[in-house]
Parts: sequence; structure tokens; C-alpha cells
Amino acid sequence: MKKLYIETYGCQMNVNDSEVILSILSKAGYERTEEMSEADLILANTCSIRENAEQRVFGRIDVFRLEKKKRPEVLIGIVGCMAERLKDKLLDGRIVDLVAGPDSYRRLPEMVAAVNPGNPQIDVQLSRTETYDDIAPLRLDRNGVSAYISIMRGCNNCCSYCVVPYTRGAERSRDPYTIVREAEEAFAAGYKEVNLLGQNVDSYLWKAPEDCPEHCGESVNFAQLLEKVAAISPQLRVRFSTSYPSDITDEVLYTMAAHSNICRHIHFPVQSGSDAMLEKMRRKYDRKWYLERVARIREIVPDCGLTTDVIAGFCGESEEDHRDTLSLFEEVGFDAAFMFQYSERPGTLAARKFEDDVPPEVKTRRLNEIIALQNRKGAENYRKMIGRRLEVLVEGPSKKTPEDLCGRASNYMMCVWPDSVHKAGDYVQVEVVDATPATLLCRLV
Ligand code: 5AD
Ligand code: SF4
Repeated sequence: MKKLYIETYGCQMNVNDSEVILSILSKAGYERTEEMSEADLILANTCSIRENAEQRVFGRIDVFRLEKKKRPEVLIGIVGCMAERLKDKLLDGRIVDLVAGPDSYRRLPEMVAAVNPGNPQIDVQLSRTETYDDIAPLRLDRNGVSAYISIMRGCNNCCSYCVVPYTRGAERSRDPYTIVREAEEAFAAGYKEVNLLGQNVDSYLWKAPEDCPEHCGESVNFAQLLEKVAAISPQLRVRFSTSYPSDITDEVLYTMAAHSNICRHIHFPVQSGSDAMLEKMRRKYDRKWYLERVARIREIVPDCGLTTDVIAGFCGESEEDHRDTLSLFEEVGFDAAFMFQYSERPGTLAARKFEDDVPPEVKTRRLNEIIALQNRKGAENYRKMIGRRLEVLVEGPSKKTPEDLCGRASNYMMCVWPDSVHKAGDYVQVEVVDATPATLLCRLV
């Protein structure tokens, strides 16, 4: 067996892509190693979402090159979202041996075989159809409890700040029957949770091919897919992300309400609280619409956990726009948020049309204001849970206090409790006795 060392950057979809890559390369005789020093092939599965993500990868490429200096036979490959954007730069100066974009992973074995000194391999062709639906991912062992399943690839939104449509191509939905099969296999292998992944799960729509004898004429939307996966077993939890505020339907919310194993959590990226910014970002909703959807979520799925993403300092953002974001955070009260400063991405609509004119120190100050407000609101939400009884799926020992167990409640809040009886994959009932800003301190009941 040859040895593959792989580092993964970016989102959950990239983690799942690395699992697909592992599966494809394992058939070509590679097994995974966690030691770079014993690898025959070193891969970085990369992210382009913000400049600092790319900078980090360039730092790692320098480290890989040192390894290659020591062992010239080792191959270095850059795969994923940076591949397309940086193919020229990466291949210039023979920094790496191969570059493969997110839709080229099936070709990795032949690409690896074709590399010879001075002949780097490159394939960054994007596809309209590739979903890797027949490939059983070789799960990276995160906790053995929760498995990622990609249900679609690419993105058809055109958010003006975002590089993803360029790096991952057009949106396509995966055959639901292969998704259900993969979820069943994960459950049979001991996983207790599946996390259905897509850039915009609400636009999932699969139509049976016309020549399909079994499912001719059938179409499946996201609510129907959720229903099918939830039906596998009440013991299998279902999560999903990411939801797009203008596309999430009442049908999805009612499906969540009807199945207690569909977790009560929606990741609901708002990006800004200002209508002017939302329009400039080419988001397809305004503040009022967003708040109405939040109200609808809370009406149909009571106790639903809500998390979000936000960008501070987008092009032309005024103090008033920024205050609109703060007031929206105050009004909604998210449990948690991923908060970023705007980072201009070459080639995007915003880079072409708008000036990146908010000074860095202003971006940082606004981001810090959002973070401070969110920390306060998040902590309030956690404290509100004191006294509640919750069902938690055990993930394993707590990182900070290994004699305790940890796991998530349905609403995605992290729980920690003293326990010497249960193990990863068990469901336990706990009562919340105290809370830190991002953890519920519990006891078994
Ligand atoms: N700059 C900063 N943050 C960005 N995001 C996407 N593109 C950019 C960018 N150019 C954020 C959005 C998105 C999350 C995954 O990353 O908030 O929801
Ligand atoms: Fe994921 Fe976007 Fe980063 Fe690609 S660019 S890895 S899709 S976050």
C-alpha cells in the first residue's frame, strides 16, 4: 500500500470531499496516514472563501516543499476550491505535482500515475453533472457518531462577494436514492447522525432521468428528501445545512416539526441586517423577509436553534448599515454565529463592480462590535436553557474535562455532564444545571 497524507481546509463539504478522495484513492492502492513524513502523496484540500484561508494553504505548501526537498519522490497535490483559481500560480515554478478541482477527483488515480518530474498534472474542469453519488466516502474518523453526506454540489446563487460559484461550479442535486442508501449504510456502520450538506439545501431538486425505469417522472424536493432520510430510523438523527433565507419553505419546516429525529436547528446565514447591503450582496431577501422567516421557523418548529453567518465591512457599508446589522442580531438572538470581515475575492461581481472601501481598522472594529453583541446574546440563550431536560447524543469525552462526556442537544447546543456509564453514540437524558456562554452544564436524569 502507498500512503496518502491529506489536510483539509474550509467547510464541511470539503471534509466530505476529502472522504470521497480517500475512497477513490484507496481503490488505487493508497491508505491514509497522519504522518506527513511517511507519505507517498501529500494532498491539501483547499478553500478560497477568504484571503486568509488561501494564505494558510500557501504557508502549508512551503512546508510540503521542504518535505519534498528531503524526499524528492514524494508527490504534492493541491485539490479543491483553490485549484481553479490558482492553477497558473501553483504550476508556475513547479511548486506542486498535481492540481485537481472539486469535480476532478475520479481522475486522481490516473493523474497521480501520470506525474513525472517536470510534468505536473492539472484538471480543473468543472462539471454540470458530477455528484460522486456512487462513491461511498471513507469517513475521516471525527467521532464515529455523525456522518456528512453531500446532497448537492455547486451553487447557482450569485452573491456578489462569493467565490463559490466560480470554484465549485453550477448547482446539481444528487440522486436521492443514493443519499438514502448512504445514510442507511452509515447507520448500519454505527453512525447515529447524518448531516446533509449543500451550499443551499432548499434548492435541492432531483428529477428522475427520463429513461429511469424505476422512478420515471418522479421529482424529489428537499422536504421530501428529509422525509425519506428521517424515515430510516427514529434512532438516526438528521441535520442539514446550509439554508438560504429566501428559499426555505414552510414544507421543510412542517417536515421538521413532524419528525422528532430531524434536529431542531437551522443554520440561517443573514450576512447583513441592512437592506442596502443585502441588495448589493445580491441576496434575494431583505431584512423584513428574513425576520418573517425567523418568526415562521419559531412558530412551526418551537425551540429551534438558530445560527448564522455575517460579513462586516462589505463595500460601501455605512455606520448606519452596520447598526442595522447590530440591531438585527439584537432582535433575533442567535445561539451562535460565524462572523467575518469582508475579504475581496478576485473575479467576483463585487470585485469587478464595487470598491472595497471600508478601511481595515473600521472592518475590524465593526466585526468586534458584532462579536461582543453576539457573545452576550448567545450567552443569554444558553442561560435560558437552565432547568430544561434535553435528549443528547453522546459524542465522547469532553475536551476540557475528559472525565465528563459531551454531546449536542437537538438544537445544536453543546452539553457536558459527569458520566462514567455511557459512551459515544448513546442517547442520554440530561437536565441543564448551569451554562457557560457556549456550553450547557448538565446532569444525567
Ligand atoms: N468575505 C468574507 N466572508 C465571506 N463569506 C463568503 N464570502 C466571503 C467574503 N468574500 C462568508 C459568508 C458565508 C460564509 C461561508 O463565509 O458569511 O456564509
Ligand atoms: Fe467550502 Fe466555500 Fe471554502 Fe470551497 S470556498 S471549501 S465551498 S467554504
